[in-house]
Amino acid sequence: MEYLTTRKFSSSLLIFVALLLLFSHLSLATSRDHHDLGRRGILRRSTKWRSKQEIKRCNMYNGSWVFDDSYPLYESLDCPFIRKEFNCIKYGRPDRLYLKYRWQPNDCDLPRFDGIDFLKRLEGKKIMFVGDSVSLNQWQSLLCLLHASVPHSNITQQNDGSVSSAIFQDYEVYVSLFNSHYLIDIEEEDIGRVLKLDSLKNGDLWKEMDVLIFNTWLWWYRSGPKQPWDYVQDGDSILKDMDRMEAFRKGLTTWANWVNSTVDSRKTRVIFQGISPSHYNGTEWNEPNVTNCGNETQPISGSSYLGGLPRATYVVKDVLNQIAKPVHLLDITTLSQLRKDGHPSSYNAFRGMDCTHWCIAGVQDTWNELLYAALFYLIQERN
Ligand SMILES: *[C@@H]1O[C@H](CO)[C@@H](O)[C@H](O)[C@H]1NC(C)=O
Ligand SMILES: *[C@@H]1O[C@H](CO)[C@@H](O)[C@H](O)[C@H]1NC(C)=O
Ligand SMILES: *[C@@H]1O[C@H](CO)[C@@H](O)[C@H](O)[C@H]1NC(C)=O
Ligand SMILES: *[C@@H]1O[C@H](CO)[C@@H](O)[C@H](O)[C@H]1NC(C)=O
Ligand SMILES: *[C@@H]1O[C@H](CO)[C@@H](O)[C@H](O)[C@H]1NC(C)=O
Ligand SMILES: *[C@@H]1O[C@H](CO)[C@@H](O)[C@H](O)[C@H]1NC(C)=O
Repeated sequence: MEYLTTRKFSSSLLIFVALLLLFSHLSLATSRDHHDLGRRGILRRSTKWRSKQEIKRCNMYNGSWVFDDSYPLYESLDCPFIRKEFNCIKYGRPDRLYLKYRWQPNDCDLPRFDGIDFLKRLEGKKIMFVGDSVSLNQWQSLLCLLHASVPHSNITQQNDGSVSSAIFQDYEVYVSLFNSHYLIDIEEEDIGRVLKLDSLKNGDLWKEMDVLIFNTWLWWYRSGPKQPWDYVQDGDSILKDMDRMEAFRKGLTTWANWVNSTVDSRKTRVIFQGISPSHYNGTEWNEPNVTNCGNETQPISGSSYLGGLPRATYVVKDVLNQIAKPVHLLDITTLSQLRKDGHPSSYNAFRGMDCTHWCIAGVQDTWNELLYAALFYLIQERN
């Protein structure tokens, strides 16, 4: 309820606001260009993203973080959508440097996120994140980015079982979240809760969407009281447990089969969010005695991460490669590994140390800038 915004604007006022935003956007872009002049040159920037062919050739996930004083793209305290888990500034995070980095691909420039353009392109359409709390986290970042672009527009909220939506009424755009830890099913049976590696029943709702962004990983290694199932079913066998990476591969393949057989690629764009890294092991960034992200205030420079890629990323790539339909991998793993400074740590309502989720504003705004580029600036690619 807290994120209901119900001020109505006459259409002329709306146009005025849109123009105002456009001008402030342009002037921000200009000041950022100047900031970058020393490094790259204004010509290079302004010629980027011209032809779609050129964009397709660039791997926008290969790059580094650069200081950019025009960031963050919004003030988190002005965003009415942020849960207590992710609202770092509100819960006392004192440093602000982590908000001031822009992702700079090595071989091209990203288009700056333009919320009005995003909403116009998706007018009348539905976009849905499907996954665990990392999806919730990214969904809220996107809502903040869009809200900052149209702060006075009519945004209503709808909660319907496992689906939460924010509806940008003036554009008839649904931005939804479908909560699913594993994408595949857990069913209550006589013996208890069974994780069914071969079963995916929620797809009927998903396939009606125009854009789907899937994610699952966080829960596959959960055990003990945090594990939300008692048995795992693999084909005809019901097991107490099995190799978790193998289970992940099988579950993801069930999802891949569903995409292969059911998604209508003319209607629905499918994106899979790469593995989101956490930062509890300082060995991965050459600080062997560090066991969390609590003292981290700066990103790692450069394009590579000492700890290397998590094993699960190889499973994701393998499984996505078997899908005949176009699926884009939102390959945020390495760029997020470089952001040991991006997590809430203890700056959340619960004071627990969280080096898994991400502060909003923050790193996931970049995920959404990449999502924007992937949706509207990349040619549909075959996988
Ligand atoms: C917002 O949109 C909803 C749905 O179209 C409408 O019922 C409501 O009256 C609108 N609110 C305002 C303040 O315009
Ligand atoms: C990333 O970009 C750098 C510089 O352009 C290049 O040397 C490197 O091979 C690229 N890495 C990948 C994985 O594409
Ligand atoms: C997807 O379909 C193609 C052919 O249509 C098939 O070769 C491939 O094995 C399927 N992949 C999955 C994961 O079902
Ligand atoms: C931390 O990472 C290093 C290098 O990847 C690994 O050898 C070590 O086992 C990890 N430590 C823990 C506690 O997971
Ligand atoms: C790490 O901790 C060990 C044992 O407490 C200590 O001997 C070592 O100097 C520490 N290393 C660094 C790099 O701080
Ligand atoms: C942060 O660093 C300080 C000083 O080195 C240390 O006392 C503290 O335990 C560290 N905090 C965390 C969460 O690692």
